[in-house]
Formats: sequence, structure tokens, C-alpha cells
Amino acid sequence: MYVKKSSRIRHFYKKNHNERLSILQRFANLTSEEINTLKNLNTLDFNSANRMIENVVSTMPIPLGIATNFLINNKDYLIPMAIEEPSVIAAASSAAKLARISGGFIAQSSDPLMIGQIQLTKIKDLNKAKKEILKNKNELLILANQQDSILIQMGGGAKDIQVRILKTITGKMLIVHLIVDVRDAMGANIINTMSEKIAPLLEELSNGIVSLRIVSNLPIQRIVKATAIWQKELIGEQTVDHIIDAYAFALADPYRCATHNKGIMNGIDAVAIATGNDFRAIEAGAHAFASLNKKYKPLTKYYKNKSGDLVGEIELPLAFGIIGGITQSHPTAKINLKILNVKTSSELAQIIASVGLAQNFAALRALVNEGIQKGHMKLHSRNIAITAGAQNEIIDLVAQKMVKEKNISVQRAKELIKNYANS
Ligand code: MEV
Repeated sequence: MYVKKSSRIRHFYKKNHNERLSILQRFANLTSEEINTLKNLNTLDFNSANRMIENVVSTMPIPLGIATNFLINNKDYLIPMAIEEPSVIAAASSAAKLARISGGFIAQSSDPLMIGQIQLTKIKDLNKAKKEILKNKNELLILANQQDSILIQMGGGAKDIQVRILKTITGKMLIVHLIVDVRDAMGANIINTMSEKIAPLLEELSNGIVSLRIVSNLPIQRIVKATAIWQKELIGEQTVDHIIDAYAFALADPYRCATHNKGIMNGIDAVAIATGNDFRAIEAGAHAFASLNKKYKPLTKYYKNKSGDLVGEIELPLAFGIIGGITQSHPTAKINLKILNVKTSSELAQIIASVGLAQNFAALRALVNEGIQKGHMKLHSRNIAITAGAQNEIIDLVAQKMVKEKNISVQRAKELIKNYANS
């Protein structure tokens, strides 16, 4: 019998390590070997690390947690997030819990189109060069597509050539955009290989000099959108209004907008890192997109629907891969992709946009109400309780008492542990 899996897991944070792993194992059908890989906190051995980068001396682990409760396009997901900052995963899970009551997140994405840029300089007649290149578009696309037959079989490949005349401080130049459908890859390698391959022909056609041949980290055609509704009965009418005011603040002010977008990237980067994706590329694309039209803008927006509920939307370019890079060679990234159970890079991008929106909603909800320090302090107090030697249910008792007393210290935790032991 098929049983629909639910990501709505009560009190996941209260479970111990083994209990969390067995929930995960059941949800994602992980093998015992995969569970052992997760249990072994340092999964990357020296030789693997040494193959990834140069001058390796060690690895630098950061915590990997699971965001629960996500319902996206009617499918339940448990979402692995790698991040060192407290409260992010709890915040995402709680935003997702509230959103699922109105159907969860609805997300969509365009085709995974990436741009390769080829810079041509020292051209005498730019218009003639542009015409010549466009006249030979087919030949250029065929040449580019000879580089990756598997991509073509999968329905991807070079699809278009666009030419721009760009005015710069060193004079006018011709910028050729090679548009490639990269299917399930992030795409930088495919794009760079194809761009380098067609560069000599472009040089010949333009009578210019080829300089840069490189992927653009602003993949403006690889756009993802997600939306969710948070009911006013659940979060309060005042919170709805205050979140819309918080959005208005970010829209009007770059100082606030940077922090607003940073909160979104807390979620997006954490899933990018967990799945072995290039989070610097994602960051660059997100902020460049936010600054299009010469004004730095929030990546999310909020408004009320007819019922007075809060609607949140996110839109940004996301170049995520589920193949290539270290997505399949890093043992933990590979397991995390299995937990996500995504079929395409577009599905992964839809999940990640939803996490970004959830993160932003949760941050704004906390900020317009009690502030974010309360949540931070809760976790911090648990850490202090554990450092002081608290175990099992005593951890929460000590932590809660310290938060109540506004005295979070190892010394106070030790006193409380003693009290509880004697009571
Ligand atoms: C902290 O990492 C992120 C926030 O500052 C985001 C925001 O202010 O919206 C809480």
C-alpha cells in the first residue's frame, strides 16, 4: 500500500540524534550505509578533499540540520540545510508549518537557461560584425552543441545567440550571449567549454579580438518563483500589517533591503551548501537581480489578499544543479539530494525559492513581534545547559529557567542542574 509521506513532524528538535536519523531513514529510504555516513560527522576524507581544491590541510565541518513541514506543489519535503547560524532551521520549519495550512508553497520555474558571455574588442565596424555573427547563428550553435552530446540527448544544449553592443570606459565592444539549456546541471562548466569553443569563429566573423569567455552569474532566464499564504487568524491581523510595512521599508531603503535579502539568503545558501552547489554564484545572481533597473530591491514581496491573509512571493534567478560539480561526489551532498528526492534541477530550485520565502517570512514575523534575540537565546541557553553537563530532559528545564531568569551562564546552569538532581 502506498502511504503518502508527510514532512509534518512534531517535535523533531526534541528527538535525539538516533531518533532523528531513523525518521530521516524512513522518510527518504536511506540505506544503513548512508545513515552511517551521516552519523560519522566528518564524512570528507583527506584524499577526497585534496581532489577538490589545492593545498588541503583539513576540512571545516558545519552543522547539517533538517527543516521540517515543507509542502511544495503538493509534495512533502524534508530539507537538509548546512548552516552555522542558530534559529534559521527552526524559523524555516515554523514558517512552513503555518503555510501548509493554506496549501503550502506553490512554486514554478522557467527552463534552466544559462548565459555564456564572449567579449569581442577592437572591432572596426560593430554593426557589420553583429550582422555577420547573427547570420552564422546556426553554425555557431552546431559548433557549441558538438561539445556535449549527452546534454543534447537530454533535451538541452545551445539554443540561441544574442549580440549586444556595449559602451564601456575603454570604448565600444561586442558582447555575445550564448544561451544554453543546461538541464540538471548548474551549468558553468558546460557554458565555459562551449563559449571557449565558439570564440575563434566569433573572432573570425567579427574581425575583432576575443577576450573573456565565461558564464554569467546573472542567469536572467533561469527564474524561479514561489508563493505562500499565511492566514490572518494564525499570525494575527496586526502581524499581517506590520510585515507589509516591513516589506515597504525594505523596498524604500537599501540599508534595510540588504538585511531583508540576507535573511532570504540564510535559507537559500544553507540548502545550496547542503547539496554541494556553488552558493557564491547563487548570491551573486540574487543580488545582481535585486539591483536590476538601477535600484536595489527586496527579492520577496508581501500584500494582503481579499480575505486579509498575508501573501508572500519570491522571485529570483537560481542556478542549481543535481548533477556535476560535487553534487554527486561529496558523500553528504549526495545523501542530501536523495533526502530531497528531486527529479530535476528545476524542482530543486523551486524548493530553494520556497525555503528563501519561508526564511524571510519567519524573520519578519519575529522582527515585527518579539524580535529575533528571544529565539537565539533559547538555543543558546540549551547549548549552555549542555556545556554545563545537563542531560536528557534536564537540558530543557535548565534552559527554560535560565531564559526566564534572564541569566544564561554556565555557572547558573550548573547550580540549576544540582537543584534538579536533588529535587
Ligand atoms: C539574520 O541572519 C537575518 C535577519 O537579520 C533578516 C532580517 O532582518 O530580515 C533576521
